[in-house]
Amino acid sequence: MSSIEDEELRRRKLEEALEVKSLRRIISAYLNYPEAAEEDIRRYERCFRKLPLAHKALLSHLPLKFQKLRWCVSQNSYFIFEMLKAFDPPIDMSVDTDIAEDHAIENAPVKRLSSTEMNPHHCQSGSSSTLLHNAKVDELSSGEDGANEASKPETINEEKKIQSLSENVGNCSVASERNGMVKGGDGHNYQSVNNSPPSFSPHCCDGHASPSPDWLDPSLQFHVPLSDVDKVRCIIRNIVRDWAAEGQKERDECYRPILQELDQLFPDRSNDSSPPACLVPGAGLGRLALEISCLGFISQGNEFSYYMMICSSFILNYSQISEQWKIYPWIHSNCNSLSDKDQLRPVPIPDIHPASAGITEGFSMCGGDFVEVYNDPSQVGAWDAVVTCFFLDTAHNIVEYIEIISKILKDGGVWINLGPLLYHFADAYNQEDEMSIELSLEDVKRVAFHHGFEIEKESTIATTYTTNQRSMMQNQYYAAFWTMRKKPPTPPSAPDAAVHNV
Ligand SMILES: C[S@@+](CC[C@H](N)C(=O)[O-])C[C@H]1O[C@@H](n2cnc3c(N)ncnc32)[C@H](O)[C@@H]1O
Repeated sequence: MSSIEDEELRRRKLEEALEVKSLRRIISAYLNYPEAAEEDIRRYERCFRKLPLAHKALLSHLPLKFQKLRWCVSQNSYFIFEMLKAFDPPIDMSVDTDIAEDHAIENAPVKRLSSTEMNPHHCQSGSSSTLLHNAKVDELSSGEDGANEASKPETINEEKKIQSLSENVGNCSVASERNGMVKGGDGHNYQSVNNSPPSFSPHCCDGHASPSPDWLDPSLQFHVPLSDVDKVRCIIRNIVRDWAAEGQKERDECYRPILQELDQLFPDRSNDSSPPACLVPGAGLGRLALEISCLGFISQGNEFSYYMMICSSFILNYSQISEQWKIYPWIHSNCNSLSDKDQLRPVPIPDIHPASAGITEGFSMCGGDFVEVYNDPSQVGAWDAVVTCFFLDTAHNIVEYIEIISKILKDGGVWINLGPLLYHFADAYNQEDEMSIELSLEDVKRVAFHHGFEIEKESTIATTYTTNQRSMMQNQYYAAFWTMRKKPPTPPSAPDAAVHNV
């Protein structure tokens, strides 16, 4: 083997090892969730014990509250563990990661993620950006009579799934992940809703928990920093936004205006031989993409965080009924609580059974970095609509996002955007090389006009992001909402007759 081939092989092995290490770290963050929560509860108990007797007597209900918190944590952990068991890692998790020992993924640039109320919509994660692997494609089945289909589940064979998806969405690139991000590359990583029975059930018929896969073996787990566990807590809040009745207010504020706009802009979609295609970059847990699908579009969500993808895949593909699980999203903060009851309240999820929601064929989630996946010749002019909701400010370079949105839209296609400009990398201190272009709304629009967009509608929408509706603190955004249309290219001007005649 030549030294070049040798080097190439070593590089690939390192990438593979880093990827496995990164995915293990994410899984470890999920698995560390109960322990981190227990640490918090122990801290509350320590503080309580330090109280003078008279104060303890006054607050004698608190020890019981701590026990209740423990129980809530166990319920959340149960949901998380079931979700992890259902996850089918797109890479071989048994790969030896020793080769990556010197490449501490902990030191990779971790993008800002906040579980605080200050920047509540920062729920991404991730770091470096190597393209690593092709991952599986799942298909979704759909139908108007989804409810019946759900009660008579049908297994879809894998080959059929892949074929059907590539027919529907064209050639979309890959996925792998480093430190939380699913990365674009040369293949596919789709997940989608299906009506087939889950590959595991929460309990075996004898009532015992179903076995867990090898890659969940504790010996393969990392000890992760608390900031990673914060990402898990953040995902739990996102579940409320997308998949709980409690999230309806936020969905009405953010998703409904977008859906109404799509409905008006594509009135004849059910008569068309092929429904219009709509892309939702930064799709989070997939609800908006699903709603767009239910409206009669070929809808594709794109998401680069494995934290999000693992969870959305579980809810979309493995929910058997609405309100199948109860989670306790608000237990992790004692602040701004009106009552302990509020803090400890259960939230049933999902509010709907996704597979019965009436999705349109072709609904998919595509894992990978928006820039890497869609800045591809196969994507040029592929979409009738692009919907960005709380996404634009996730860019390192927002100009690049706008450029790609313009490129992938058909002439006359529409771009609907709703969101603030809370640039995710704006305060990436300690990361001097972290690129972050932070434009005002005025400049964002100027860049859009430069890329051939014309504004058709514009307004401001007051909304929150993953906010506890019963909290005494509610951060409000005044989000920009617009519909822009990509102008058809102007035909080359007719040559000047006089000049022509010379
Ligand atoms: C603030 S969240 C919004 C999620 C969803 N649109 C909503 O409104 O709830 C932004 C999402 O974009 C994802 N994201 C950030 N950068 C991305 C990129 N370059 N490519 C794909 N997804 C990205 C994050 O992981 C996160 O899920």
